[in-house]
Amino acid sequence: MTIESYPAQSPYRAAGLLEDKVAVITGVGAAETIGAVTAALFVQEGAQVLAADISGAQKETAVALGTAAAPFQVDITREDEVEAMFAQAVETFGRVDILVNMAGTPGGRRGEEVTVEEYESLTSVHLLGTLLTNKHAVRVMAPAGGAIVNFSSAASFNIDKLNSPAYSAAKSGINSLTKSFAAHYGARGIRVNAVAPGFTLSKKNQRVPAEYLKELTGKAALGRAGEPEEQAHVAAFLASDRASYVTGVVVPVDGGWTVKLA
Ligand SMILES: NC(=O)c1ccc[n+]([C@@H]2O[C@H](COP(=O)([O-])OP(=O)(O)OC[C@H]3O[C@@H](n4cnc5c(N)ncnc54)[C@H](O)[C@@H]3O)[C@@H](O)[C@H]2O)c1
Repeated sequence: MTIESYPAQSPYRAAGLLEDKVAVITGVGAAETIGAVTAALFVQEGAQVLAADISGAQKETAVALGTAAAPFQVDITREDEVEAMFAQAVETFGRVDILVNMAGTPGGRRGEEVTVEEYESLTSVHLLGTLLTNKHAVRVMAPAGGAIVNFSSAASFNIDKLNSPAYSAAKSGINSLTKSFAAHYGARGIRVNAVAPGFTLSKKNQRVPAEYLKELTGKAALGRAGEPEEQAHVAAFLASDRASYVTGVVVPVDGGWTVKLA
């Protein structure tokens, strides 16, 4: 399902899960990123969304979402830009209730192929980016409270030789940051959780060569890849008040890839 067709083709009726909430969502680049589909679901569920990305494509995403969304260009590794992103959300929508930090970049190199450049790029976007966005989210959310959903990966559990070790390590760091922020800010009414997707058919993964595609889809107990909206629905639940007693958890949304190891 694409952002253009969402929610028109969604099999689910909106439940007002995020009515009156203001969300900042990063990583909403091109249509069919998990972020763009998540932004569409959040709007469908009643939220107003600041749609943020580094690529420039956040403008198209926000236009497709209508008046409930506004675009913002951000590099989440730059603290001044992250601070400006939250200031823009407050200026546009009055406050911030939710952060979904989705922005990320895949790691391609395995084992001894890893370079310092790739390590630094992955660590910077995933680990530093999560640290900065979470830091400034809790700053603007307090004292009203709120919810943060970080995007980790099934790879954070170091499950497979197919994964880039630098990517896996950076995503493991996101799990740690998620728990750390949850522990520090629970008393202020801020819940912090993470979604750990398995192989999901966002736009870039639709271009994966056929032989890898077969191998990757075969990893899940369900025997298929995930769809972006299957990640988005879990993020929406975790961000909503229905998850009011859930904090500090990393939820695998992987069709049972990781459970096969249990
Ligand atoms: N698709 C999968 O199979 C899968 C699996 C596990 C985890 N994930 C994670 O889920 C998230 C979304 O995945 P996706 O497949 O939609 O990714 P994607 O690569 O299609 O989209 C990521 C978006 O993040 C943006 N971005 C990258 N660096 C940025 C930066 N420094 N600042 C701001 N924006 C930046 C990109 O421009 C892009 O729009 C990522 O964090 C990814 O690591 C995806």
